Amino acid sequence: MKSYYLTTPIYYASGEPHIGHAYTTILTDTLARYRRLTGSQVEFLTGTDEHGQKMKEAAAQKNMPPQELADAMAKGFKGAWADLDISFDRFIRTTEDAHVDLVQDTLSQLWEKGEIYADNYSGWYCIHEERYWTSREVGEEHICPDCRRPVEYIEEKNYFFRMGYYQDKLLKHINDNPKWIVPETRLNEVLGFLNQPLGDLSISRPKTRLDWGITVPFDESHVCYVWVDALFSYVTGANFPNTQSNPQKHCNWPADLQVVGKDILTTHAVYWPTLLMASGLPLPKKILAHGWWLSDNTKMSKSMGNVIDPLQLRKKYGTDAVRWYLLRDMRTGSDATFTHKRFETRYEELANVLGNLVSRTTSMIAKYRSGQLPGKIETELGEEIDKTLDNFQKYMDELQVHSALEIAMDLARQANVYIFKQEPWTLAKDPEQADYLDTVLATLIKILTVLTTLFSPVMPEKMNTLAKRIGLSKLPTFKDLDLVFSTRSSVEVGKPLFPKDNL
Ligand code: MSP
Repeated sequence: MKSYYLTTPIYYASGEPHIGHAYTTILTDTLARYRRLTGSQVEFLTGTDEHGQKMKEAAAQKNMPPQELADAMAKGFKGAWADLDISFDRFIRTTEDAHVDLVQDTLSQLWEKGEIYADNYSGWYCIHEERYWTSREVGEEHICPDCRRPVEYIEEKNYFFRMGYYQDKLLKHINDNPKWIVPETRLNEVLGFLNQPLGDLSISRPKTRLDWGITVPFDESHVCYVWVDALFSYVTGANFPNTQSNPQKHCNWPADLQVVGKDILTTHAVYWPTLLMASGLPLPKKILAHGWWLSDNTKMSKSMGNVIDPLQLRKKYGTDAVRWYLLRDMRTGSDATFTHKRFETRYEELANVLGNLVSRTTSMIAKYRSGQLPGKIETELGEEIDKTLDNFQKYMDELQVHSALEIAMDLARQANVYIFKQEPWTLAKDPEQADYLDTVLATLIKILTVLTTLFSPVMPEKMNTLAKRIGLSKLPTFKDLDLVFSTRSSVEVGKPLFPKDNL
């Protein structure tokens, strides 16, 4: 059976992981963990993009061969993802043999089919971004619109992919599948881009200018353009049955979901699907394009010097608090501004709403019932619980993660109000109310059980701790929920889940 296959972008191995990479990866991880909870078999791919000019420049600056830098950086990314509790199944590196073989096979097939042709190119080129620009785009100053470095005028032989030929087919696909790219604002950006005639795509670079890449199989003097190389790593990572290195593995392509930032949407929603169409491969089922974390209204990036290191934040507040803030405070798809104040507000929400509910519930069961509830008890708030479960899944399926988290936290708020109204401390004083006190406590435990499931994709570590505290042997999946509730054992109080002394 094919797994639910989802991917992050394949990150440039030329720079350290920062908050932007962390956000994309945590978002994808949360969606992967959610899918596993629904009972799906999941394959989650991430990795490093190790060829091209940026890599070559970064290695030269460090005085090391590009492969050595790639090895060190791949290790660095894996370490960062371990620290941030990322549950990827496969880490692809574009310098792997299986991938080099797949790219070369694909290029040969496209060449034989006439999808690729040679031509002379003259025009503006940004060496750093490795891309061509029109005269209008570089303006009179001849500056790269992306990185603001000066561009060069070049004339050279190049190989082109007949991308323009697929424009109508792509437009039809988008119009027939209005939820193919989410959110809708990003879909509209792509449609805007496709309003202009779509040109062909240069897919090679002469080795005289750049030799760090995959050799074009039908012309030894060129390497493959780094974006074409990297995009196909999604197919390599799906265990595509490539004849040379990977003959009979089980294949997960097409991806069910590809998560990308808005800055790399054109490559994923235009270059990528047209390359797949020409290769005779199915398109990914969905693309989620998220926004940027901003600082003082500009994108956080290394060159702007305004980057927040997620790994430093994690040291102070813990991994789950970082994951929570990033997903809770950004509407999935829009931009958001990072501030320490907002971070603390979201941390306080964890401590005051969820943390408080946990400590009150467990202490009351310890105090009034010696840490144990009788097996089967009537519970209340069933409607609220069911509604939250339904809406949570609806929002997650629609990829509105921020809304899913919001309604889960609302259930914790309702449980706190329930405590306030039922006053278990008053019930405890009246022996005639013993059964009803059981009901109140059981209702609270039931809500905590549901919350461990709902919050576990975003806060796996804390929810594992909570599951143990309320006597569960493992994190319940959606299917398990009813079952584990009736077979639950004893409850333990423990330290605050979200201590406030580090604020
Ligand atoms: N190597 C290419 C992707 C090739 S995929 C076949 C690449 N790599 S990258 O290292 O630059 O990673 C970019 C990812 O990080 C994108 O998803 C991008 O949107 C994300 N972010 C980088 N800075 C960001 C913010 N400030 N905020 C949120 N995400 C941003 O592009």
